[in-house]
Amino acid sequence: MSVAKKEYKRITVKSLIEMKANEEKISMLTSYDFTMAQIVDKAGIDVILVGDSASNVMAGHETTLPITLDQMIYHACGVIRAVRRALVVVDLPFGSYQSDPKEALRSSIRIMKESGAHAVKMEGGSEIKESIKRILKAGIPVMGHLGLTPQSIYKFGTYTVRAKEEYEAQKLKEDALMLEKIGCFSIVLEKVPAKLAEEVAKSVNIPVIGIGAGSGVDGQVLVAHDMLGMNKEFSPKFLRRYADLESIMTEAVQNYNEDVKAKQFPNEKEQY
Ligand code: KIV
Repeated sequence: MSVAKKEYKRITVKSLIEMKANEEKISMLTSYDFTMAQIVDKAGIDVILVGDSASNVMAGHETTLPITLDQMIYHACGVIRAVRRALVVVDLPFGSYQSDPKEALRSSIRIMKESGAHAVKMEGGSEIKESIKRILKAGIPVMGHLGLTPQSIYKFGTYTVRAKEEYEAQKLKEDALMLEKIGCFSIVLEKVPAKLAEEVAKSVNIPVIGIGAGSGVDGQVLVAHDMLGMNKEFSPKFLRRYADLESIMTEAVQNYNEDVKAKQFPNEKEQY
């Protein structure tokens, strides 16, 4: 059953801004491949993020830093082939936009041209303002990302809640206003106090989508593998698990293993 206030055949950046104006919450989940994206899209999720969390989830790296632009484009291509309704946003990976606006534009054009994605996401505020402006000028929609920005993990030193201190909260508020002013269509706010997140969401007309940012924002995003319970080692307070796929998949694989060893698979009907 759908709880949407308005049915959208296809989600665009305009739909998201309209959803905020209509006080309809926006749902966003990650996908890194065709099969997952098909499930997520058919389930009615509004925004699919090809996140650089693929670096952790798909490749097993400790951080998001190692994933390359080519790898992000590979993941995005599979997702785009599956999606019929959702808006597909692709993370610009670490090292593909920080040097200068020209590099940022080149990387964004590669993502849009080679994968067919609908928008890019970038971590940071005033530090990357000129790069964002350059990308927007080329007609590419940009989603901002403030708060805990995992590409800066070695600067932070920890994955703990950001902007608890006044000076950091102040910069975050200014950055959000700046991102709206220069033309970003949305902002992800990661792991910040709920009160601050709500204040930021109320201060801008573009949707603020939270992860670990409480309920006072315009939408929520989670990593699909985490909310499906495929990785029990990652257990932050903000995560709600909607399934225990790790147990279900483990049991299925164990059953298959036992059947093969016991010569129970394949049976008469399962052969030619
Ligand atoms: O890469 C990612 O999955 C993200 C989300 C955590 C917002 O950026």
